[in-house]
Amino acid sequence: MCGIIGYVGPGKASQILTDGLKMLEYRGYDSVGIAVLKDGKLEVRKDKGMVEEVSSALAFTTMGGNVGVGHSRWATHGVVCKENAHPHTDCTKNIALVHNGVVENFSKLKSELSAAGHKFSSDTDSEVVVHLVEEYSKTQPPLKAFMRAIGRLEGSYAIALMSAADSEERLFLARRNSPLVIGVGKGEMLCASDIPAMLKYTKTFVALEEGDMAILSRHGYKVYSSDGSEVSRKQITVDWGVEMAQKGGYPHFMLKEINDQKHFISESLASDVTGARKLMDKYDRIDIIAAGTSYHAGLMLACLLQQQGRNAQAFIASDYPFITSPKEKTLVIGISQSGETADVLQALRHAPKSPKLAITNTVGSSITRLVDHTVFLNSGPEVGVAATKTFTSQLAIVYKLIYGKEKLGGLPALIEKMLASENHVKAIAQKLASKENVFFIARGRNVPIAYEASLKFKEITYIHSEAYPGGELKHGTLSLITEGVPVIALAPKDDTLQKLFGNIREAKARGGLIVSVTDDDEVRKESAMSIPIPSGLDPILYPFALIVPLQLLAYHVSVLKGINPDRPRNLAKSVTVE
Ligand code: M6R
Repeated sequence: MCGIIGYVGPGKASQILTDGLKMLEYRGYDSVGIAVLKDGKLEVRKDKGMVEEVSSALAFTTMGGNVGVGHSRWATHGVVCKENAHPHTDCTKNIALVHNGVVENFSKLKSELSAAGHKFSSDTDSEVVVHLVEEYSKTQPPLKAFMRAIGRLEGSYAIALMSAADSEERLFLARRNSPLVIGVGKGEMLCASDIPAMLKYTKTFVALEEGDMAILSRHGYKVYSSDGSEVSRKQITVDWGVEMAQKGGYPHFMLKEINDQKHFISESLASDVTGARKLMDKYDRIDIIAAGTSYHAGLMLACLLQQQGRNAQAFIASDYPFITSPKEKTLVIGISQSGETADVLQALRHAPKSPKLAITNTVGSSITRLVDHTVFLNSGPEVGVAATKTFTSQLAIVYKLIYGKEKLGGLPALIEKMLASENHVKAIAQKLASKENVFFIARGRNVPIAYEASLKFKEITYIHSEAYPGGELKHGTLSLITEGVPVIALAPKDDTLQKLFGNIREAKARGGLIVSVTDDDEVRKESAMSIPIPSGLDPILYPFALIVPLQLLAYHVSVLKGINPDRPRNLAKSVTVE
């Protein structure tokens, strides 16, 4: 969940690291730090806070040197404070390390190192690694010492380390169950948790595999497998432009990414799903695993497959290992925007004998190495913590898998029309910003969209929000609907409308403030506020028409409340711990 960046080359390391950390901040943003090597001396600056404030308060970019590592933190071990921020150094202050992941055997290692005289300055699990390297460096050359230290670690890690005692300017890398990608530049090398942080310098990357270690120097890189032997790893090139990972004039990434949906939906629809369809036709049972927003796309896939009479079910990835034992005849589909979500990767590993398919946005991500076949979203990098464009892209892939592309030609225009409702949505946001609870209701295939709208709403507005199939209200939740409590009804004119209308009336009779997204005049009349859906729409496209204004609603309530929707508290974009 933390963001790591490293650089070695002729450039000014502190500037490159600081710029990179700004791009990586969506991975974690409670503290930040960089370490650089200049004239054989290590300098570290770090503190709690966001990249922008810490880097300017500590004047990161005044630091000289051409090699360095940087880190933005999402705390797992130890409170948020300067001492626990990365980079961490050894007792001699010659070695600096940044780490993403969890070292599960850290307390055993810490006792061992303390007994050998090492002094620790933080409460983190990460710091043990740098002391371990220091310990082994007493008797072994740098690479051997690094490999030996890595061999002692249990848990997950992406690590970048450098040493002032090294005879060359080099970075030492290792990864297991946490992403780390090498950026191959001309006369310079980078590494980072995610590709966008390196796009300014290169479009060529090497994704390290599980257990890999590597050395970077300005002349190139070498990769080693966990047994220490040198291995070759495939280079990948991406066609993402730097501007794709920038705000492009919008006040927030989230708003840009919501608006980007009108373009990227076509890119996603162009994605090749023939291999995936063949796989899906071959198996009787389909298990779909995912987390958060991707789970809602998974629910939609399961729902549409079930409507076709198929045996399909969507599972919350973190629970999948507890509730099922997939057999060879089950196709397991993992959906993950980042392709790095630990819960999803773990759930895929829980199905060792099953054939597997991934739907992801990230070329070279861990999920692609765990499956037999991958479908890419082609949505470009998504920087806002709240998933928006990647959700509609996931839906587009799901729809293409089920209906084929022919019926979906009108999607870009539909999304554009729904985006045009922004000012109207903004006015509704003003009425909701002071509320404490919000409920979303829908029926049938619109229910996954209600779940997603509710997740988006609570995630960035901090207003308690829940979503239900409308029929469930009367089985308990109706007790919470009192005067003025918003009930947002996803009420398109499809086969679900009649029954949902009954639920809307039930909520209204208890004083509920009905906000509808609808193309039905009667529902509109019953509503206090309504967001229109264009009339004459093919009913299968309603989910797309529903989600876009509800993303905008969450965004505007968030902004009205003075929250930064790109960086909601306690969350991170890529959740690489279980
Ligand atoms: O990268 P993934 O799609 O696997 O991420 C799963 C969830 O963490 C993610 O969808 C999360 O729920 C969203 N950021 C919510 O907007």
